[in-house]
Amino acid sequence: MAKPKVYVTRLIPDEGMKLLYEKCDVTVNPYDRVATREELLENVKGKDALLSLLTDTIDAEVFEANPNLKVVANYAVGYNNINLKDAEKYGIPVTNTPGVLTETTADFAWTLLMATARRIVEADKFNRSGQFKGWGPLLLLGQDVHHKTIGIIGFGRIGQAVAQRARGFDMNVLYYDMNKMPDVAAKYDAQYRELDDLIRESDFITLHVDLNESTRHLISDREFGMMKENAYLINTSRGPVVDEKALVRALKEGRIAGAGLDVYEDEPLMAPGLAECENAVLAPHTASATRETRGAMARIAAENVLAALEGKRPPNIVNPEVLDK
Ligand code: DGY
Repeated sequence: MAKPKVYVTRLIPDEGMKLLYEKCDVTVNPYDRVATREELLENVKGKDALLSLLTDTIDAEVFEANPNLKVVANYAVGYNNINLKDAEKYGIPVTNTPGVLTETTADFAWTLLMATARRIVEADKFNRSGQFKGWGPLLLLGQDVHHKTIGIIGFGRIGQAVAQRARGFDMNVLYYDMNKMPDVAAKYDAQYRELDDLIRESDFITLHVDLNESTRHLISDREFGMMKENAYLINTSRGPVVDEKALVRALKEGRIAGAGLDVYEDEPLMAPGLAECENAVLAPHTASATRETRGAMARIAAENVLAALEGKRPPNIVNPEVLDK
């Protein structure tokens, strides 16, 4: 019997590729770059499954090119790159890779937090460029992290994992979420605040929300205006949650102390002026980039593909209504 056909829009780790190669006829984007729109539309034709990345826009045009897809398995926990309304219209299940990147992303949010507060990137550049001439009482002064207030916006899995780490630094933990979660919050000694109050009170604000219409530009000029002058903003969620031009203004005018970013509004581009801000630490969307986590994400994405191809309910379906109709 012919094997089902899968298009993988960019090579993912072996943990997933091996599973797919065992049971499927696999076409992989041969280039080490995002597949172009034309390549995506061409290659999806005639396939049974699509394994996509967060850099691929999956919408009606893709489903029109192949309305018979049995699944779109996104290699990410976030799936804002997929138009779920269009997927529903075509009855196509969509899956993601939740859970496995929680701790890794929380580690990275903390990496950015520590790096900005303690100016580690500036320090490294300073040292490598031969400017270190001896210990100085005023050299590269940063800010303490321990015993400060951290405000976590979005108190899902990753937000909670960030809170867990904050306890080790004896921090005062605040959270904001659409849902108040007193029992969960009690585990981390976290207190609920309305969004504006959290923004006003926090020394470190870290974002862990999904990107949707209610979170687009959640942090903009108004919010920067409310932050403490010594506050830091950390974003490992999605770029458009922050109005990046407003952020550049806030960083340049010293309205906030700094920012640690993993994601950008118009990736891979950055807002004009951001790259020149010494008080920002800028990572290239690598919060989940460990061998272990990227391998686990690959395995899960492949398992979702295989389940759908075997006529089973994919374990990580995000639009179950298409199957329950
Ligand atoms: C995700 O999975 O949504 C992450 O952004 C990938 O790093």
